[in-house]
Amino acid sequence: MSEATADIGVIGLGTMGANLALNIAEKGFTVAVYNRTTAKAHALKADNPDLAGNIVPAETLEDFVASLKPPRRVLFMVPAGPLVDEEMEKVGPLLSGGDVMIDAGNADFHDTVRRSKAVEGTGLHFVGMGVSGGELGARHGPSIMVGGAKETYGSLKPILEKIAAQYQGAPCVAWLGPDGAGHFVKTIHNGIEYADMQMIAEIYGIMRDGLAMQPDAMAGIFRDWNTRGLASYLIEITAVNLAEKDPDTGKPMVEVITDEAGQKGTGRWAVIEAQKLGIGATTIEAAVAARGLSARREERLQAAKTFADVKTPASGFQAGDAAMAELESALEAAKIIAYAQGYATMASASDEYHWNLPLGTIAEIWRAGCIIRSHFLDDIAKAYDGGARVVNLLQSPHFVERVAAGQAALRQVVARAVLAGIPVPALSAALAYFDDYRRARGTTNLTQAQRDLFGAHTFHRLDKDGVFHHHWPAV
Ligand code: 6PG
Repeated sequence: MSEATADIGVIGLGTMGANLALNIAEKGFTVAVYNRTTAKAHALKADNPDLAGNIVPAETLEDFVASLKPPRRVLFMVPAGPLVDEEMEKVGPLLSGGDVMIDAGNADFHDTVRRSKAVEGTGLHFVGMGVSGGELGARHGPSIMVGGAKETYGSLKPILEKIAAQYQGAPCVAWLGPDGAGHFVKTIHNGIEYADMQMIAEIYGIMRDGLAMQPDAMAGIFRDWNTRGLASYLIEITAVNLAEKDPDTGKPMVEVITDEAGQKGTGRWAVIEAQKLGIGATTIEAAVAARGLSARREERLQAAKTFADVKTPASGFQAGDAAMAELESALEAAKIIAYAQGYATMASASDEYHWNLPLGTIAEIWRAGCIIRSHFLDDIAKAYDGGARVVNLLQSPHFVERVAAGQAALRQVVARAVLAGIPVPALSAALAYFDDYRRARGTTNLTQAQRDLFGAHTFHRLDKDGVFHHHWPAV
């Protein structure tokens, strides 16, 4: 049996698990590692001689557990779903009171709530932890969203604060609430990630199909935008994506990649949860739907032939600095609206599940390490400064000003794109949400009248308190 020397253990040495283990080892902690294919655990040590002294590979789960110092901390980085339950069932019986199991995968927060309940009364602790930043983030500093008992976080904090990304010296990790809070927040992070990426892709579509720009020129624009308000990891990588050439053909890489987006499900979960809460996260919905439609490529190719005769007016987009400035402002306004929807979803979930989510802290720990990292998140953090109660970011003075300034550009861009037949589902969803949100008198008075006519569903009146039913003429 191994000596108990490890501060924490990682089960699952795929890309994320292996990189997280190396990150932990590099920060001076001893990490036990276990993988179903045990060769991977030994390879991790052998391939990283600089860190080998801090890596303890295990052949069996028993050995793995025995190598951990109590209270034992076991971090699972296995694909979300039944595999997490399987691993927990195997490891759980080997642990004892006070030990902690951490699921660091992209779990559905409902599973995290269920798993937290399952360990209740066993003396074990369960933590659901969202980790963002991809491979490089895991290796050098991800953003970490923790859910579980606060005391349990206390025992993990020294390790997590060291391995997390740092934003101006502040670690991008925080305890966000009990049971599923961390994984819920990660799900919304991913939903926002989807919306952000979709809106960037729509702007690319306008540049390509409305302005006949070449990828190199587009790359230059995105590089420029990355110096101001839109500056973010996603804008930065877009410039890199657009500038890259295919070594086989010499063509821009983006031109040889098929237009079929993959998705693992977190964006969809974000939409489902927002819907359940009655929040219109319409930009995320549009992004998820656009990925779904993109994946039906054969069908789209057929539809392109079916509607080949449908002509749209020539694009109203005109090349030049003014056009670029308009696209930049439009994207910025739409981005604010997308983030406002994500934050509204978290605020509502916080009330619904009594999590008391620290929305400002969430913005703070997203400023570095994660996929949506940007200075823009610092502006969101400031909106929540001092625990300010923000009903919706679109009511927060800083963003009111920015959206008011950018909405005209968004309107122009969406209108031109629509007329030219260039799909902009997320940008137009953002605009429609903005217009609906700021409209004092909406149109669901008619919806209520219809519901009352066919189902006696009742309605409220503007001029009297109470619940009313009207005797509509028979139809
Ligand atoms: C992150 C990412 C990551 C996610 C990928 C791919 O925060 O590091 O969100 O968790 O797995 O971005 O997600 P899709 O396959 O759904 O696009």
